[in-house]
Amino acid sequence: MDINIAEAVEGEDALTYAGSLPVPNVQEMERSNPMQVPERYIRNQEDMPKTTDAIHLSCEIPVIDLSLLSNGHKEELKKLELACEEWGFFQVVNHGVAEEVLQGMKYSASEFFELPLQEKNKYAMASDDIQGYGQAFVVSEEQKLDWSDILVLVIYPTRFRKLKFWPNAPKEFKEKIEVYSNEVKRVGEELLCSLSLIMGMDKDTLLGLHKEFVQALRVNYYPTCSIPDQVLGVSPHSDTSILTILMQDDDVTGLQIKHSGEWVPVKPIPNALVVNIGDVIEIWSNGKYRSIEHRAVTNKNRARISFASFILPHDDVEIEPFDHLVDSQQPIKIYKKEMVRCNLSCIPDRFKRSEEDKSKGVDLSVLSPQIPVIDLALLSSENVEELKKLEWACKCWGFFMATNHGIPEEVLQRVKDAAAGFFELPFEEKKAYSLDSNEMQGYGQPFMVSEEKLDWSDSLILRIYPSHFQKLKFWPTTPADFRDTVETYSTEVRKVAETLLGSLSLTMGMTKDALLRLHKDMAQALRVNYYPTCRNPDQVIGISPHSDATSISILLQDDDVTGLEIQHDGGWVPVHPILNSLVVNIGDVIEVNIKKFHHLKDFIYN
Ligand code: OGA
Ligand code: NI
Repeated sequence: MDINIAEAVEGEDALTYAGSLPVPNVQEMERSNPMQVPERYIRNQEDMPKTTDAIHLSCEIPVIDLSLLSNGHKEELKKLELACEEWGFFQVVNHGVAEEVLQGMKYSASEFFELPLQEKNKYAMASDDIQGYGQAFVVSEEQKLDWSDILVLVIYPTRFRKLKFWPNAPKEFKEKIEVYSNEVKRVGEELLCSLSLIMGMDKDTLLGLHKEFVQALRVNYYPTCSIPDQVLGVSPHSDTSILTILMQDDDVTGLQIKHSGEWVPVKPIPNALVVNIGDVIEIWSNGKYRSIEHRAVTNKNRARISFASFILPHDDVEIEPFDHLVDSQQPIKIYKKEMVRCNLSCIPDRFKRSEEDKSKGVDLSVLSPQIPVIDLALLSSENVEELKKLEWACKCWGFFMATNHGIPEEVLQRVKDAAAGFFELPFEEKKAYSLDSNEMQGYGQPFMVSEEKLDWSDSLILRIYPSHFQKLKFWPTTPADFRDTVETYSTEVRKVAETLLGSLSLTMGMTKDALLRLHKDMAQALRVNYYPTCRNPDQVIGISPHSDATSISILLQDDDVTGLEIQHDGGWVPVHPILNSLVVNIGDVIEVNIKKFHHLKDFIYN
């Protein structure tokens, strides 16, 4: 039985965070003592900038002509497609933003950063706010610090603006920000039209997804540094945005992007804008277009200013792959109403796996005993050792067994019995609860859209929380205590999930309630999987390889039949049941959140 705590929805309260730790102003530090660089900025040897080896790749970074794109020029669209697939970064020329708008913005910003600290601090970021002047978000004392100061403003929708953070000096700065941002908005919209086209959709599909976009500006100021080889201006990260549009100085190189395993500097083209694909497009495109890791380095002689405009999704937008971009190479969980399978005595071809499928991945059953076992009672009491173990389990396995979870054995037994009772019913009776693909609830065979091979299993999927998603018509009435039992079990699972999210927040260096707050209205769904016996188990798979589109999944399995296998070190490791324990796995959403939080530390939005 597979109990999924499904996708998390973020609310506006995701905008406030547990506070950032105070961090020195870098520009002041450098000003008062140019030769001194505190330990906390000095990177480990292996993180050092290595630029020289990849300079030759710099001139291969695609350059896209926006005016051609916007006229639907075929060649240019092809170029854009290639850029998104292979680089995730490109420079945009002929974008129609007047040179004086670009230069005016740069000029005003550098005047702002030249102001005395006391002046700039009038706009100081509060420790729990995302907007204002200050330093990147810092969550742990051990974290290496970025050699930069920033000014962050939310620009659109205008009702999100906090004008108290908009500098009054230099006088014309506000207006420059307004004009520039409005131009960037247009460039972003034109790019989204072209992106819609190359993703095989109507021109305005991506734009139409949004009632409104969120646009935020982050101005980065990188002071000079006496030992540029040992510090970073911005730590490696990917952007959580849909798109990021960056304006950089025309004559100082700092931005580097990861390509073919190397850090490639993005050499400025005068008046061009640098655009990169953010995590959202990576997800929408089901991984076809890439959100590339990048960082900024500093130098001895010249301070550098860059302007990153993030085009972000609003809460009303779903962030999941577009159906038509899901294929068997990149399977993702999407449900579809389909055939009913009756005859279990022979295996229809569609269930048979090719030799290749089955041999994919070596048998690593020797590793089974090494799957981490985590004591949830210890986690609840914030036992440091156990938290470390959790962190390691998430990093190295993404899976662990949870013991001491507090769910009474009797509840576990009852829910197993109830499920077994349901699946034993005659097919006619179970059919009364048939899967509705729109609802994603009911009894049947949910499976991936374009996966031609079928899973040797039937499922019952019920949405449990928020309770207005519950549709009782899908809830079996036989066995008689089914509803009651599922209700009790789900309440218990929710408590376990809360403990886990609390501990996961701690291991990510946030306050305990951070992830829970993100899951304002935590959604929870139950999927009961029934794997009939199979005469030729070597030729079928109960459930195809997949990762869960959830935050975390909590699985209760039979105590005496092994079936679940997880991918580890390039092989498949069977998860042998431990009596009364649960199996937990980290789903895609937490993985995205980890990325997001990593990024939050230096951008802080979304
Ligand atoms: C950012 C960023 C790079 C740069 O602000 O997210 O990646 O060149 N900046 O300043
Ligand atoms: Ni970035």
